Order: sequence, then structure tokens, then C-alpha cells
Amino acid sequence: MSSVETAGAAPVFLLEGVTYRYPDGEIGVNNLDLSVGERERIVLLGANGSGKSTLLRILDGLIFPSDGLVHTFGQVLNEKSLSEEVFNYDFRRRVGFVFQNSETQLFSSTVWDEIAFGPLHMGMEEPEIRRRVSEVLELVGIEAIKDRPPFKLSGGEKKKVALAAVLATNPDVLLLDEPTAALDPRTERWLVDMLIQLGKFGKTIITATHHLDIVEEISDRVLIFGEDHRVAATGPPSELLSEKELLLHVNLIDPRFHKHSHGGDHRHYHIHD
Ligand SMILES: Nc1ncnc2c1ncn2[C@@H]1O[C@H](COP(=O)(O)OP(=O)(O)OP(=O)(O)O)[C@@H](O)[C@H]1O
Ligand SMILES: [Mg+2]
Repeated sequence: MSSVETAGAAPVFLLEGVTYRYPDGEIGVNNLDLSVGERERIVLLGANGSGKSTLLRILDGLIFPSDGLVHTFGQVLNEKSLSEEVFNYDFRRRVGFVFQNSETQLFSSTVWDEIAFGPLHMGMEEPEIRRRVSEVLELVGIEAIKDRPPFKLSGGEKKKVALAAVLATNPDVLLLDEPTAALDPRTERWLVDMLIQLGKFGKTIITATHHLDIVEEISDRVLIFGEDHRVAATGPPSELLSEKELLLHVNLIDPRFHKHSHGGDHRHYHIHD
């Protein structure tokens, strides 16, 4: 593994020929090669069922390749390495994942406890935990719901709590599965601005989304999955998003769907009847 042995320059993630088959035989991702550098911001695009969430689960070490290998920071990421306490602690501290479905992510009896869970699990002292929870509650704007049970919140509120819980541990790598899906337009804007800031702070950020109009702001590179669960294209967002034939081919846009430029760099996607 020559690419992994180059100490100091090890990518955040390196995937070689990764295929994942679910236990029932469904292919999640097919023969995927990918290298993610530190501070890179990547957006995953693709039609429903093309493999975005599967890839994020693989990157978070929740599932392991059926074929191929995943390396993270120069070490193999598999069941065996994650069973080692030191590696596990380090990996979990470095990588945070906001799930597509917040329901499966939230388990505490209050929002406060939910956000405190990560820092507590990392062995932080109580004053530090309190400080972090307060900071994140304020950052995400959810102080008002801190004593409520997460399972009783609205979809968007749950998404914010899940995000807050991940931010509380200050991971270097953020994996975000459709983070804006349940958010109102103002909150979506806030999140996009925050992702831009986090990128400037040097985080590595991998986001799966269907919101084409935010892609250019939150990515340096786009990976488009085809419906065969293989990568159909990869490149800078400005290039790929203007390839209408490609976007049609991977079923990301409707034939009636097209893009306008309204002066300057302001760009919208519209659907016309
Ligand atoms: N738990 C599972 N068991 C079996 N097959 C699964 C499971 N989860 C996903 N799949 C299948 O794996 C493929 C990839 O699914 P995945 O959830 O990664 O897609 P996605 O790109 O995230 O889609 P979406 O945009 O709808 O979230 C699909 O064919 C899907 O049906
Ligand atoms: Mg998904």
C-alpha cells in the first residue's frame, strides 16, 4: 500500500475498489475508488438509492466493505481496527456523522443530555462539558428546547439537535447526510453559512444532498453516483453542474429542469410547466 505509507500525507480517507452489498444482496456502492484530502469539501450527488448514504456509513465505520479496502489517516478502517480502544476513541473523536434520519441518531431524554453525550463519552470534565453544551446550544440556536425530549421535536428541530450533538465534540471530519433536508429556508441558509465557516476553519466536510443550489458554496469537488451505484463523474462543482446531459443521465434533473443566471453569480434551478 504505497499511498498509505507516505507518512504525514495520508489522506483522511482512501478507498480502493470498495463494493458494499447489504445482507439481502442489494448493492449499496460498486467498485468505488476515492481519496479525500484534509480540508477537502466534497458533495455527494445522485438519484435516490444511488449509494450516497451507504458511502457515508462506510466512511463512518458503521458498515465495512464486502470487497476492497478503506483507509483513514493511513490506517485500515475495519471491524478489527475499530475494536481496538485507542483507534476507536481517536477515530470517533475525529469523525462526526449527522445521519439522514435524525430519529435513529437521537436517544437521550433531553436535548441537553443528547449534546452532552459526546463530550461526556470523550471523558471531559463537567465544567468543560457544560461550556461546550452551552456554546453549541447558542451556535445552533436551540437554547429554548434544551430541556425537551428529542423524540418529541419537529423534523427540523431534530436535525438541529443531531447537528449540535456532533459539533459538541468538535470533529475534524464532518459527514453530513442531507443536512438541509428538513430545514426551513432561513435555517438552511444559516447551515450553509456555517458549513462555509467550518470549511475555513480547516474541517474536512463530506455532504450528501439533493439541493443543487447549495453545492457550489459547500464543495470543492463533487462526486456523482449513477443509478448503478458507481461513480458516474467527479470534478469541480462549477463544471459538473453545468453538464446537463450528465445530470439527466444520472436522473438528477428532470428534462424540463434547467438553469438560469440572473445577473452576477446568482443562480437558480427552476422547474417550468
Ligand atoms: N438496509 C438496507 N438493506 C438493503 N438494501 C439497502 C439498505 N439500505 C440501502 N439499500 C440499498 O442500497 C442502495 C443505495 O442506497 P443508499 O441509501 O445508499 O442511497 P442514497 O443515495 O443515500 O439514496 P437517497 O437519496 O434516497 O437517500 C439502494 O439500492 C438501496 O435500496
Ligand atoms: Mg441517502
